[in-house]
Order: sequence, then C-alpha cells, then structure tokens
Amino acid sequence: MKIAIVGSGYVGLVSGVCLAHIGHQVICVDNNLDKIKTLKKGQLPIYEPGLLELMHEGVRKKRLTFSSSIGEATRKSQVIFLAVPTPPKPNGDADLTYVENVARQIAQHMDAYKLIVEKSTVPAETGKKIRRTIHLNLAKKFKNGSKLLLDFDVASNPEFLKEGTAVHDFMNPDRIVIGVESKQAEQLLKEIYKPLKPKILVTNIASAEMIKHASNSFLATKISFINATAQICDRVGADVLKVAEGMGLDKRIGRQFLDAGVGYGGSCFPKDVDAFIRVSEKSGYDFSLLKEVRRVNENQRHWFVRLVEEKIWNIKDKTIGVLGLAFKPNTDDIRNASALEIIHLLQAEEAKIRVFDPQAMGNARKILKDVVFCENAYAVAEGCDCLLLLTEWPEFKELDFGQIRDVMQQTVIFDGRNFLDGGHLRNIGFDYYGAGRGKSL
Ligand code: UDX
Ligand code: UDX
Repeated sequence: MKIAIVGSGYVGLVSGVCLAHIGHQVICVDNNLDKIKTLKKGQLPIYEPGLLELMHEGVRKKRLTFSSSIGEATRKSQVIFLAVPTPPKPNGDADLTYVENVARQIAQHMDAYKLIVEKSTVPAETGKKIRRTIHLNLAKKFKNGSKLLLDFDVASNPEFLKEGTAVHDFMNPDRIVIGVESKQAEQLLKEIYKPLKPKILVTNIASAEMIKHASNSFLATKISFINATAQICDRVGADVLKVAEGMGLDKRIGRQFLDAGVGYGGSCFPKDVDAFIRVSEKSGYDFSLLKEVRRVNENQRHWFVRLVEEKIWNIKDKTIGVLGLAFKPNTDDIRNASALEIIHLLQAEEAKIRVFDPQAMGNARKILKDVVFCENAYAVAEGCDCLLLLTEWPEFKELDFGQIRDVMQQTVIFDGRNFLDGGHLRNIGFDYYGAGRGKSL
C-alpha cells in the first residue's frame, strides 16, 4: 500500500518506519527541513529504542523515503495519515490549526481518491471538520460548487504508542481502533494492518476519537488514584508498593499504571486530560472527576518539594542533584516532565541544581537555565545536600551508591519513582525517602 505520514515526530516517524517494516511503501513528511535533512542522512531526530535499525532497513529496501512536500506525498499515496501536533491552547482546547492547514494542502494536491486518517489525538468532531475543509477546498479548486469530481474518505485511527517502547507497541498492539464512514476506508485500513494480525475494532469516527480521549484519561486517573492513595499510605504507615501489588492482583484492576511518584508528564496525558475536560464542558457535561485527576497530579510535584524541604530544612543555597529529566525512561522527551517542574519549583526557592539524564540532556539544555549539566550520576552527586531520582532509567539501579555517598555533602535521597532499593540505601548510610512508602519500608 502507498502511504504518506504527515508529521514525522515521535508518533509519525515510529508509525511510518513500522508501516514500511511490515511491507508498505511509505513517505514520511515534515515541514521542518532540518528534520528531513537529518532523516535523509540516516540519522534520527529523536531517541526511541529500536527505531534506527528499522529505519535503515526501510531505506535499504527502498520502502521508506522522506520529504518536505505534502504535494509529492499526496500524489504518490493512497492513504495519508496526519500526525501533526495538536497542542493545548491557554483554555485547554486542542489547537487544530496544523491539522486544518495540512488538510487544506492535501485537498490542493489531490488528483484521485485518497483516504485521510487522523492519528493525532483530536477532539470528537475533528473528523467532520477535516471532511468539510477538504470538501470546500476541492469545490474551490474545481470551481464546481458542492458537486465533487474527486472522491475521498476521512477516518480516525488513534495511536496508543508509549514512548520508549513505541516500536514494540506498534508491532504488538492490544487493539487497533478504526473509525470510518465507508466500507472502502474500512477495507483499506484493515489491509494496512493485516500483517500484524491484530484485534481490530471498527467504529464510527466520533467513537474512535472518544476511545483515545477516554483511554488516556482513564490511565491518568489510575495514576492519580494511586498517588492519592500514596499520600494516605505515608500517613498511616502502609507501603504503596504492596498496596499496588495487592490491588493489581485483582484482574479487574491490573497492576499497570499504579506506580506512585512525582506524577505523570509527557506530551499526551496532561494535554489529553485537559482536552477531554474541555470536550466535556462544550458538550454540556462537567467532568469534575478529571479536574481532580489533574489537581492530584499537580499536587504530587508540590508535595515532593515540600518533602525535600521538610527533610533538608532550608532549600535556599542547598545543592540538589537530579537524576533523570525525561518524562519517563528510554526517551529523550522532556515535554511536561515532572522533573522540569520540580527543578523550577526548587530554583524559585534558590536551590543550586546539578543534573544528569542519559538521553535528555540536549533537549534540557534548551529549557533549563542556571543548572550544572554533569556528565554522569557520580558527577551530579559531588557536594550535594541531597539527590532526587525523578526518572527511573534502568542504569540508575546499577549505580555504585557507596561511591555516590562518599562525594555527597549530606547523604539524603528522595526517590520520586519508588525505584531504588531503599533498604540497601539505608543500610549503607543514606536517609532514603520514597513516595507513599510509609514507615513499613
Ligand atoms: C503529535 C501530537 O502532539 C499528538 O497530539 C498527536 O497525537 C500525534 O502527533 P508527537 O509525534 O509526539 O505527537 O509530536 P512531535 O514530535 O512534535 O511531532 C510532530 C511533527 O509534525 C514535528 O516533527 C513537526 O515538525 C511536524 N509538523 C508540524 C509538520 O510536519 N507540519 C505542521 O504543520 C506542523
Ligand atoms: C501515553 C499512553 O500510554 C499511550 O497509549 C498514548 O498513545 C500516548 O500517551 P506515553 O505518554 O508515551 O504514552 O507514556 P506512558 O508510559 O503512558 O507514561 C506517561 C506518564 O505517566 C509518564 O510521565 C510516566 O512516568 C507516568 N506514569 C506511568 C506514572 O507516573 N505511573 C505509572 O504507573 C505509569
């Protein structure tokens, strides 16, 4: 199948590379010329495990190309996926100007039947608006009012990839949701995903859009639920790790997304929860449960800073080391990362910050001011009054904490992900604090 992906970011590039891997002819498009240049050189503009090898394979087998031209991509493809950003506006609404612009450009270059598929997370009804934009632009192009000479379909195929495991998630989906208005669109999408032998759920477009909103908001709710539970655990002497394990053994609940800590970040959960709150408001329903999910998440970061203050006393002029900046491990993505907000809160109280992240230093340099960027975790620890673990990179588990202890000013560790072996750290002389570990650790 001949496929174009417009927007070659974390979502679009992974989708394009994987679609080429399963046998399709794919053009990845982006309006950022530097990104296209980097891709054409055989390099990745992002860090995502396993992606580089598959990208090289796609190029070698001549199934994968890169372009900055929506015109070229439209003419050469039958199916066009939209994976451009839908960032939040100040009022929480998703900003759909990129989606609209791309839809307009596709219409201008259409020369035969095309299936246009939304992959970006968009509010319900966006499908309808894309259809109308293309319709209006085609009518203008052919100067024929509402009678169209060219047939097209719009569909929704939301993405459920998790950064850090995106390639694996694409190749092994729990389900593929396709929201369609015609048999032709349904058949084309089924054909595309056939090699993955997935469970496919066919719905109308609005239901597919709602599935994405509801799934991400539900997962965010699980995280806020366990974070609120962790607050109580701390007070009553329970251990949230045991509580999550006990809850998770119930198959109806499941253990995933019950990790308490400094809260969720990333390009999806914060934005999608906000957008779902707005979609609900506009439909006349006050989804107050989700407002509380958001409040609990914001509170976790403030609570963590207060915990640091309680244990190391004045924050002003203290040297604080931060391990992990990415919003989760195995990615270089720092969008809405809890680590960044915590650093800003500490800087507001005049702490001196030293940081290290295995992949996110480049992105962090563009945003963080007045911090010392260190070459590894040991360098971060030098002279610190305390260490904060804010992203659970597997390599942080392997650190020699004896060596770290010896170069610190005060040996206090705050484990914002309940990731380290607190018992061991206490045995070798650290003051260790997790989130919701109570007195039972
Ligand atoms: C994005 C959206 O943020 C998300 O809501 C949606 O679900 C999928 O697409 P992501 O891939 O993580 O997620 O974003 P990003 O890495 O910023 O990639 C978007 C790409 O689109 C960028 O490379 C950007 O240069 C490109 N872009 C943007 C276009 O090609 N055309 C545009 O008009 C705007
Ligand atoms: C999410 C969804 O999982 C994915 O299906 C969707 O398509 C895009 O958004 P992503 O944001 O890449 O994926 O990562 P995810 O693994 O879901 O983590 C999101 C945030 O929640 C991270 O900051 C992570 O640290 C946090 N998290 C996750 C917790 O705090 N606790 C948990 O138990 C799980």
